[in-house]
Amino acid sequence: MSKLADKVAIVTGSGRGIGKAIAAALQSEGAKIVISDINEEACKETSEELSKSGEVIAVACNVTDTASIEKMVAAVMEKWGRIDVLVNNAGITRDDLFMRMSEDKWQAVIDTNLTSAFKVTKPVLKVMSKQRSGRIVNIASTTGVHGNFGQCNYAAAKAGLIGFTKTIALEYASRQITSNAVAPGFIDTPMTAALGEENIKKYLERIPLGRMGTPEDIAAAVVFFAAYAPYVTGTVLEVNGGLYT
Ligand code: NAI
Repeated sequence: MSKLADKVAIVTGSGRGIGKAIAAALQSEGAKIVISDINEEACKETSEELSKSGEVIAVACNVTDTASIEKMVAAVMEKWGRIDVLVNNAGITRDDLFMRMSEDKWQAVIDTNLTSAFKVTKPVLKVMSKQRSGRIVNIASTTGVHGNFGQCNYAAAKAGLIGFTKTIALEYASRQITSNAVAPGFIDTPMTAALGEENIKKYLERIPLGRMGTPEDIAAAVVFFAAYAPYVTGTVLEVNGGLYT
């Protein structure tokens, strides 16, 4: 299938985990891929891997740094002259219960998971507006919809990202640019592996479908918005195995 043939897709935080799977899935729909990550090594390795099956460039980028973002967008425009899909995926966790949550942990998560989308989307929407087409997909979280113990910073950032998604949808619909969010549940990546076996077991007991999600489960939802949903905008799709609390 090549629904995204000749289209250019940027995936932030695509050196590993969910972002890497999203990049691979968009590539298998025919897109040219921009692998972008703060981790230069991961960025390089993943782009080398994906370049075996399509056109890929690696651009190291820190999504909290406006200058770094501008450099990335300039590199993509120089190489391919267009941007059709932006996936705001890069994110971190700095968990703690509310009373123990430090301002540093709060701010780091707001900066990396929310303000980053504002910063990256701005130059990309300038390009998409001129093209009068584009797909923005933001990776939120079920935590942003329902809250979660120990994640007030993350929940606030992801809820903010959902509000951002819906507003961009309204402001850019007239230019045929859609903006949607995918809200993953509990997905098997290095981020969740850090929680340790005991915690993972506890989560698993609560998931109706009885397993953790895979990065590919999330990638399929992103491909839907990016390639198969021209009439869907401003929506949040939870991909969570039935875990709604
Ligand atoms: P991960 O930690 O495995 O991968 C995140 C990637 O983002 C890493 O390669 C990292 O280097 C990169 N990154 C971190 N800070 C960055 C920055 N400032 N600039 C550029 N890149 C940066 O995490 P995972 O699990 O793949 O998460 C991806 C997205 O999915 C995140 O937004 C996360 O919040 C979200 N998510 C993940 C869930 C899960 O269960 N794994 C559940 C719900 C949402």
